[in-house]
Amino acid sequence: MNIQLVGKIVFTSVLLFVIHKTPVFFEEAGLYLNIPETQQQQQEVLEESINRGRTVYNDFCVQCHLPDGKGTEGVFPPLADSDWLMEKRTESIHSVKYGLKGEIVVNDIQYNNMMPPMGLLDREVADVMNYIMNSWGNTQHKMVTLEEVKSINK
Ligand code: HEC
Repeated sequence: MNIQLVGKIVFTSVLLFVIHKTPVFFEEAGLYLNIPETQQQQQEVLEESINRGRTVYNDFCVQCHLPDGKGTEGVFPPLADSDWLMEKRTESIHSVKYGLKGEIVVNDIQYNNMMPPMGLLDREVADVMNYIMNSWGNTQHKMVTLEEVKSINK
């Protein structure tokens, strides 16, 4: 066998191997790097949380903050378009988890009332937070997770 023939056979084999494996490689890489699918899954997780949160809201919050989230000026602060809710993420979660009393200012209106602790599960706090932060025109930049609620202590 001459050396040139051996070289051609080796070269052809390597070439065929690469041609054969390339689509498999990209397919497998695609499964791990498929970012749109991951975002879609995150969106679904968020939507499920919002839906559960709507039920929590209607059971525990609606009597004071009202169906449109606007509350009653000077008595029950609004959640719709509330600067407090938008700017004080941790305090908001804390208030839903443990209750809130004393002076606060929401959208330039003073409140000095009290929200009782409602004894919600951490999971329910996360769900209702995702509901109020994504309703009535409110927009949220980051979903509230169970871990985040757990990490907020009295
Ligand atoms: C009994 C009436 C009542 C209920 C029920 C109630 N709240 Fe409140 N909420 C209040 C009052 C009053 C305040 C303001 C407390 C203060 O003046 O310090 C408040 C404040 C808040 C705030 C911070 C201020 C703002 O408007 O952004 C958030 C967030 C909030 N409530 C969410 C909820 C959620 C979510 C629920 C249901 C899980 C709920 N509340 C149930 C009366 C209530």
